[in-house]
Amino acid sequence: MANSTRYKTVILGAGAAGMMCAAHAGPGTLVLDHAKAPGEKIRISGGGRCNFTNTGCDPDAFLSANPHFAKSALSRYTQWDFLDLVQRHGIAWHEKTLGQLFCDRSAKDIIAMLRAEMDAATAELWLQTRIDEVAHGPDGFLVRVSREGREITLACDHLVLATGGLSIPKMGATGLAYKLARQFGLDVLDTRPGLVPFTFSGTPLDALKALAGVATPARVQADGPAFDEALLFTHRGLSGPAVLQASSYWHEGQPVTIDLDPDARTLPALKSARQSTGRKSPATILGQHLPARLATALAEEMSLPANIGDCGDAALDRLIERIRRWRITPSGTEGYRTAEVTLGGIDTSGLNSTSMEARSCPGLFAIGEAVDVTGWLGGYNFQWAWSSGWAAGQAI
Ligand code: FDA
Repeated sequence: MANSTRYKTVILGAGAAGMMCAAHAGPGTLVLDHAKAPGEKIRISGGGRCNFTNTGCDPDAFLSANPHFAKSALSRYTQWDFLDLVQRHGIAWHEKTLGQLFCDRSAKDIIAMLRAEMDAATAELWLQTRIDEVAHGPDGFLVRVSREGREITLACDHLVLATGGLSIPKMGATGLAYKLARQFGLDVLDTRPGLVPFTFSGTPLDALKALAGVATPARVQADGPAFDEALLFTHRGLSGPAVLQASSYWHEGQPVTIDLDPDARTLPALKSARQSTGRKSPATILGQHLPARLATALAEEMSLPANIGDCGDAALDRLIERIRRWRITPSGTEGYRTAEVTLGGIDTSGLNSTSMEARSCPGLFAIGEAVDVTGWLGGYNFQWAWSSGWAAGQAI
């Protein structure tokens, strides 16, 4: 690869992590992306309002083979640092539930802010650029790209892998970071879709489909913590924030445990109705605490008597077991097509947790979703992108 143009730093990927890194990597930084616009996932995130961080950002809210890895970057560039940046740019924001911070106006404000920070740092951005080959020599890295019909060779001292994970291929997600990481001797852990709806088949799907569109508060647990948020019945199975959260801890073949009455209100309601108004239907009583369609379906499924007064203790116990300890095994997930994140990825054991630099290949950095650090739903994944991008930028 001869006749190269030299940069101090080339960042592959103009997403959340790549742009943040570019704003801090100093002069001589070039960011490359094959997309038409930078930060496309930021643009569509949070229903177009970008849930850009979480006030409760804590290392426990991240999944990784090494749960300690993310601590350094998250503690040195915190949610408060990012919020401060947002405020300095005059972006109006609000807190929704569970510490989730959103833009008042549009996610585009966050992209414009990052572009302004990149401009202030004199970082260059090349869009619609195909990355053809990357090599490593005595003088650093060589990156061969195609842009506007021309082949260009770039040389750099620092190369940053920031092309994200595999989720939403329609938006340009590729496995480039994994391929290059392997090329430079880093391990890549198995990847799987996270924050993704569950799918079902056969009889369980028929029952779920019949309730499509019903949303209810629930506590959902796979092989990890239990999440108290909304659950949504869909034509394919189950979705909603509580389900998406649990999906990151789910493995093929495992059941999921669901509590449709996390506030434990149905049993006392059923018992007191049985005593006072024995002639009401169990579905009516359940419907005071659960969506009416769900209440009716449960009463039918459990073949409850028409009057609550005729429900014995055994029938009530069975009903409560069904409502509060519902175990159901998904047949799969909707996959990378709709997953918000990719679990697994570049093994953190090959990276320095302070700088994100590869131990075996000085000058090579990996940040953002490409790395085996995945956050919960609620702004955690963007915070990891900001923190890891910032950490690499500081080190460069
Ligand atoms: P990101 O995917 O943002 O950027 C990677 C960049 O690399 C892209 O610009 C891509 O075009 C480019 N690229 C990929 N392959 C390439 C190649 N071969 N050549 C050149 N360029 C290439 N998180 C959160 O905290 N709050 C939220 O509200 C949401 N909401 C949300 C909604 C939806 C629908 C999705 C899919 C995801 C979210 N997320 C989220 C997750 C969040 O979007 C994600 O964690 C970050 O965007 C990851 O940032 P990265 O910079 O690592 O990758």
